[in-house]
Amino acid sequence: MQQNHRVNFGSKLGAILAAAGSAVGLGNVWRFPYEAGNHGGAAFICIYLACVFAFGLPIMISEFIIGRRSKASTGEAYNVLAPQTHWKWVGYMGVLTGFLILGYYAVVAGWTLEYILQAAIGGFSGKDAKGFIRMFTDFSQHPVRPLIWLYVFVLFTHFVIVKGVKNGIERSSKVLMPLLFILVILLAACSITLPGAERGVEFLLKPDFSKVDGDVFLGAMGQAFFSMSLGMGCLSTYASYFSRETRLGATAISVGLIDTFVAILAGLIIFPAAFAVGIQPDAGPSLIFITLPNVFQQAFSGFPVLAYVCAVAFYVLLAMAALTSTISLHEVPTAFLHEKFGFTRGKSARIVTGGILVVGTASSLALGDWSDVTLFGKNIFDALDYFTAKIMLPVGGMMAAVFVGWVLDRQVVRDEVTNGGVLKAPYYGVFLFVLRYLTPIGILAIFLNELGCF
Ligand code: TRP
Repeated sequence: MQQNHRVNFGSKLGAILAAAGSAVGLGNVWRFPYEAGNHGGAAFICIYLACVFAFGLPIMISEFIIGRRSKASTGEAYNVLAPQTHWKWVGYMGVLTGFLILGYYAVVAGWTLEYILQAAIGGFSGKDAKGFIRMFTDFSQHPVRPLIWLYVFVLFTHFVIVKGVKNGIERSSKVLMPLLFILVILLAACSITLPGAERGVEFLLKPDFSKVDGDVFLGAMGQAFFSMSLGMGCLSTYASYFSRETRLGATAISVGLIDTFVAILAGLIIFPAAFAVGIQPDAGPSLIFITLPNVFQQAFSGFPVLAYVCAVAFYVLLAMAALTSTISLHEVPTAFLHEKFGFTRGKSARIVTGGILVVGTASSLALGDWSDVTLFGKNIFDALDYFTAKIMLPVGGMMAAVFVGWVLDRQVVRDEVTNGGVLKAPYYGVFLFVLRYLTPIGILAIFLNELGCF
């Protein structure tokens, strides 16, 4: 399966931006605030940051090593590095996880398109917090509208995937990431200055550890994996397109910093605004869709044109950030079918797209007509989210850590981290120690704790 003529990202910056494009998405702007809101705010964020360091960064470097060394997508990477072993199942599980995540992620991505439209036709004007809650509920429970947006979004993703790695992924990430960054900073500044915003800032920054339980740990860990695109071989598939010169440690740190920074800023937009207009921070998946329109309305109340431009720009950039993430998720099963079964990329992509449309339809309807169809007491949408983010990703990540820490030849690991001895990589010793002990034991402890073992 060794492929010597794989396309590479065109530059080091291209590699960082593509990985950051995968990491930064709805996970930061949509999922992080609602998970933080459900789990009490600041204490969740502290545990989240600990997870980023203890699990996120070491696993990201591990996935980079697995991908660049094997030069294969996740599904096949373990087969290349550890032939004839059961490790291949970790790769296969990653392919399945990516597919299932897309099955609900694409639904939310579709919502961003509806909100672009609403922002553009002035659908926000004159509404208050209650009005925005109604607007969201009516839309998300509608039997047809969210489905149309879902299909449109999945087709966009399909289109970029067939165009290929360099043209599609790299070029779009380069322009959009910096723009999103600027707008997010601007909106955070607006939100903090809303009257009554202080309580939101306090909610974000003043931890109350007395409310922390096993669920908070599981939620924070799941969110770290989800947000950093880890645990299913998404970034290892991208790393198979990295060149020999890409510095794995530095790239992981840049991506981790950018991703965390955007998530915290998103929190700084959402919570001050939510408290200012009286929306509960634990509103769940609807949180950003009912809070944000208020920010545009209120923060720029004297400047309707500015409010209009910012609202449209924000949802366009959010949709784009979601697109660079759905592309990275789609790439994993597509590359797998292409490499494993020899289908053309086009055919592989069509199979994956078809599957996503089916799962996506079910999870979209789960918020309306199919809300009483449940798996383990959760509707299809919530069940997909729970099992992928809180179970499959941490298990996959733990396996990647064990594989690189314990199974892969030590010389190979050093060679990848130092680019064949060119880099000094002073963090190497710490990295290996954390990866071998802290990461797997920490993840296991959170699982056991959740199961009530201690
Ligand atoms: N990290 C992305 C976000 O925050 C979503 C995503 C892309 C992802 N690729 C992934 C999540 C792989 C888990 C695994 O929106």
